[in-house]
Amino acid sequence: MKVLFVGDVVRSAGIDILEKNIYKLKREHEIDFTIVNGENSAETNGIDRRSYERLIQLGADVVTGGNHSFQQRGCEELYEREETLLRPANYPEGVAGSGMYIADLFPVKIAVISLMGTVGLEPLDNPFFCIDKLIEQAGTPNIFVDFHAEATSEKKGMGHYLTGRVTALIGTHTHVQTADEAILGGHTAYLTDVGMCGPELSVLGIDSDIAVEKMKYHTPVTFKASSNPSFINAAVISFDEKLGKAYKIERVIMR
Ligand SMILES: [Fe+2]
Ligand SMILES: [Fe+2]
Repeated sequence: MKVLFVGDVVRSAGIDILEKNIYKLKREHEIDFTIVNGENSAETNGIDRRSYERLIQLGADVVTGGNHSFQQRGCEELYEREETLLRPANYPEGVAGSGMYIADLFPVKIAVISLMGTVGLEPLDNPFFCIDKLIEQAGTPNIFVDFHAEATSEKKGMGHYLTGRVTALIGTHTHVQTADEAILGGHTAYLTDVGMCGPELSVLGIDSDIAVEKMKYHTPVTFKASSNPSFINAAVISFDEKLGKAYKIERVIMR
């Protein structure tokens, strides 16, 4: 089987390019299942009902999250209602929503886990202990983890920690695609960061003049997406669904 994993979708610019091209992408790569990181898909960042519904309508099977998951006021209700919308699993107990979804593609099951790193981000629960519990609960060898983290060291560490235990560990959050794809231990597809969907000439999708002003003066600015042409950053993971074993990972950059 093949899974398409799409990097952080930045605002409507990111949703628009995905909407226009995902059908072609899925057909070309014979995709069975699609995971999309949606933590930046709302027009003022975070995720809201409108952006979540657009992602589902264009063909996402599961939408994963990150440090911006709860940025939109009132979004807790969305997390409670939509089981295919995930927020990082290592939020403390009591936070709305869930960090794991198990898709039943009879007879195959695919578990998708959203997990967040803690180096340079919110001090959530330790992701290493959290993932141990979730792997036990998954009930399928087909496990795909979105590890939303800042530090390459933490991502590499998690990749090695999960070698042979999950089908794929794909990094998100930095919005910059790395070129270190690998099949770890002949089992686990790994990529430090899959990148983003949104304006290519920008600072992580944001208008570069505004981003530079913020970095230069440290005074408040209103971020808006760059109006430059967008690109799609994704990865295609081919795996043996009986063993939960990945045998190929291919990076995708579509302009
Ligand atoms: Fe992001
Ligand atoms: Fe993020």
